[in-house]
Amino acid sequence: MSLGGSGKAMPPGWFVGCGNMGGAMVAGWVRAGRDLSKLTAISPSGREVPGVTVATDYPDEHPDWVWLGHKPYQVEQVAERLAPKAKGAVILSILAGVECASLRRLFPDARAVVRLMPNLPVSHGEGVTGLYSNDADAALKAEISDVIGDLGLAPWGQAEADLTAISTVAGSGPAYVARFVAALAKQAEALGLDADTAHAIALQTVAGTGLMARSSGEGMADLAVRVASPGGSTQAGLDVLDAENGMDELVARTVAAARRRTEEMAAEARG
Ligand SMILES: NC(=O)c1ccc[n+]([C@@H]2O[C@H](COP(=O)([O-])OP(=O)(O)OC[C@H]3O[C@@H](n4cnc5c(N)ncnc54)[C@H](OP(=O)(O)O)[C@@H]3O)[C@@H](O)[C@H]2O)c1
Repeated sequence: MSLGGSGKAMPPGWFVGCGNMGGAMVAGWVRAGRDLSKLTAISPSGREVPGVTVATDYPDEHPDWVWLGHKPYQVEQVAERLAPKAKGAVILSILAGVECASLRRLFPDARAVVRLMPNLPVSHGEGVTGLYSNDADAALKAEISDVIGDLGLAPWGQAEADLTAISTVAGSGPAYVARFVAALAKQAEALGLDADTAHAIALQTVAGTGLMARSSGEGMADLAVRVASPGGSTQAGLDVLDAENGMDELVARTVAAARRRTEEMAAEARG
C-alpha cells in the first residue's frame, strides 16, 4: 500500500462518468497527493468533482488512460462515441458486471482493457480495489498497481472470476458493514443509550476491531476467543451467532443474492 504524498502524476486521460464512486477514487488520490492535473472528469451535467477539471464533453486531445465510471447499462451508448477517440488508450473500467470480453468488443482498438472493482473507502485510502486484465503487460500492471495503491489494498485476480469474488465481498461489503453497525447501535439504544452515543460506540467497536486485527495480524477465531471467556456473556452472544441459521448462513445468503445479481448484469451486458 502506498503511503501517498508522492506527487506522482496520473497519466493523461479522462474519467468518463465521475459520480459517487469515481468521485471517491479522485478524493483518495487527492488525499494521497497524486498529481491529477492531466485527468479530466467527463460529466454530462458539468457537476463539480473536487480535485479534477470537469468537461461536459470529450476534450480535443488524445487520452492515454480512459476510466469508465458511468452506469453499466450505459456502456454501449458511451462506447459508440468514445471508442474512436480512445484508440490506443488503456481502458480502465469500474462498471460492475461488464466483462473484459464485452469491453474488448466495444473498444477493439484499446491498448489494454483493465477491470477494477473499488469500494467506497477508497476515498480515505482504505479501500479494496480488485484488479483484472487478460491483456495488460507487466509494466502496465505495475503502473496501475502504483496508481490504485494510493487508494488502499489492490489485489490482482488471476482469473476474471476472482474479480467477481473480490467485488461481491469488498464492493458490496461497506453496505453490509453499515447494516451491522446500525443493528448493533439499535440494540445499544434498546439497552438505554441515546441514539448518538449508541451509533458512536457501535461504529468505534467495528472500526477499532478492524484496525487492531489488521495491525496485529491475529486470526478472527483467536480474536473472538480473547474476548469471550468460556461460559461468559460474550460466549452466550457468540452461541447465537454460531448456531444453525446464524451468522454464517445469513452472510452466505446475502453474498449469494449479490452474486446472482452480478451474473444477471453480466449476462445483460453480453447482449
Ligand atoms: N457505488 C459503488 O459502491 C460501486 C462499487 C464498485 C463499482 N461501481 C460502479 O461505479 C459505476 C458508477 O456508479 P456510481 O454509484 O458512482 O454512479 P453515479 O454516482 O450515478 O455516477 C455516474 C456518473 O456517470 C455520469 N454519466 C451519466 N450519463 C453519462 C454519459 N452518457 N456519459 C458519461 N457519463 C455519464 C454521471 O454524470 P452526471 O453527474 O453529469 O449526471 C455521473 O457522474 C457503476 O458502473 C458501478 O457499477 C460502484
